[in-house]
Amino acid sequence: MDIAKILETVLHPGKEDRSIVELGMVGPIKQELGRVEVTLLFPSRREPLAKYLSGSVRAALYRELPAGTEIVVNSKFDEAPKPKKPNVNDLTLDELNNVRHIIGIASGKGGVGKSTVAVNLAVALARLGYKVGLADADVYGPSVPIMTGTEGAVPEAIEEEEGKTIIMPIEKYGVKWMSIGYFAQAGQALIWRGPMACNALKQMILQVRWGVLDFLLIDMPPGTGDIHISLINDIPVEGAVIVTTPQPVALADVEKGVDMFRTEKVNRKIFGLVENMAWFTPEELPQNKYYIFGRDGGVKMASSLNIPLLGQIPIVQSIRECGDNGEPIALSSRPDALAFLGLAQSLADIA
Ligand SMILES: Nc1ncnc2c1ncn2[C@@H]1O[C@H](COP(=O)(O)OP(=O)(O)OP(=O)(O)O)[C@@H](O)[C@H]1O
Ligand SMILES: [Mg+2]
Repeated sequence: MDIAKILETVLHPGKEDRSIVELGMVGPIKQELGRVEVTLLFPSRREPLAKYLSGSVRAALYRELPAGTEIVVNSKFDEAPKPKKPNVNDLTLDELNNVRHIIGIASGKGGVGKSTVAVNLAVALARLGYKVGLADADVYGPSVPIMTGTEGAVPEAIEEEEGKTIIMPIEKYGVKWMSIGYFAQAGQALIWRGPMACNALKQMILQVRWGVLDFLLIDMPPGTGDIHISLINDIPVEGAVIVTTPQPVALADVEKGVDMFRTEKVNRKIFGLVENMAWFTPEELPQNKYYIFGRDGGVKMASSLNIPLLGQIPIVQSIRECGDNGEPIALSSRPDALAFLGLAQSLADIA
């Protein structure tokens, strides 16, 4: 009796009724006088039809073999090691190998326009011909998806050998963007304990396939807390661009932001200061400048902290509107875009 032939009649209802022989599910067959032993191979323990199929095999053999033959059906589950879940502690710096400059966009103070400057600087650098990526490190209040009109985009995840998963950045306006916002439900607040936030942040940067970049900008969250220190320690950040507004009260906070990079342990370069909201210019009176937060506060801060002033950006209604509409002003040919192109040029010259 050809046992294999009998087994060819056993069909897998979950696999378009293909035979278990064709599907390679039949392992060793032992045939002795009055005894047949068949071993079925299943790829995983979760195979829902395992019991059903061994029953079908038993029934087919029972039907075809002489009465009284002892029939043994074994099930063998593939014990191949499960793919290892990526562990943040296993993250390496490999994906940053081809990135020339990693620069944090920081400030000791909240709401001064870090994200606006980071996004527009990224677009402006790309317009100048550089290869640019931006990682939104504000895990609690990510703004990059909205500011770039990429909210709802879902980054592709690629499984690589040894269970390593790589995330592809979202590409738009010639820049590669990554933000924790792409992984959160719309409108859902991200409430994370410190260590979780730090780990998510590391993944946002180290697990991303950045490829070849001249600049990887990191939009830092406000403040100077643990998350900043952990970020600077774990990622080879070359230095920082500090954003401030002109009012003298901002100085103390900005000083803290600068110190964070200048302590002996951290010791990173400060590329320079950006004075955002340096003056107000109404859309209808583009020549007029109103120094509502005081004049040249950033210039004075830069000289008192002994760092270069990279540029001054006015308060313009369209800068905010473009941010809200997901079309950074630096994309446009408006005069306001020039401020960011100038900034990009000064950074590229210094870096
Ligand atoms: N130069 C500017 N002209 C007009 N509006 C601006 C300008 N810079 C920033 N804004 C607006 O100010 C608000 C705060 O800016 P932004 O989110 O960039 O600040 P931030 O420093 O990143 O804030 P956070 O500390 O919360 O991360 C935004 O609505 C933005 O559109
Ligand atoms: Mg921000």
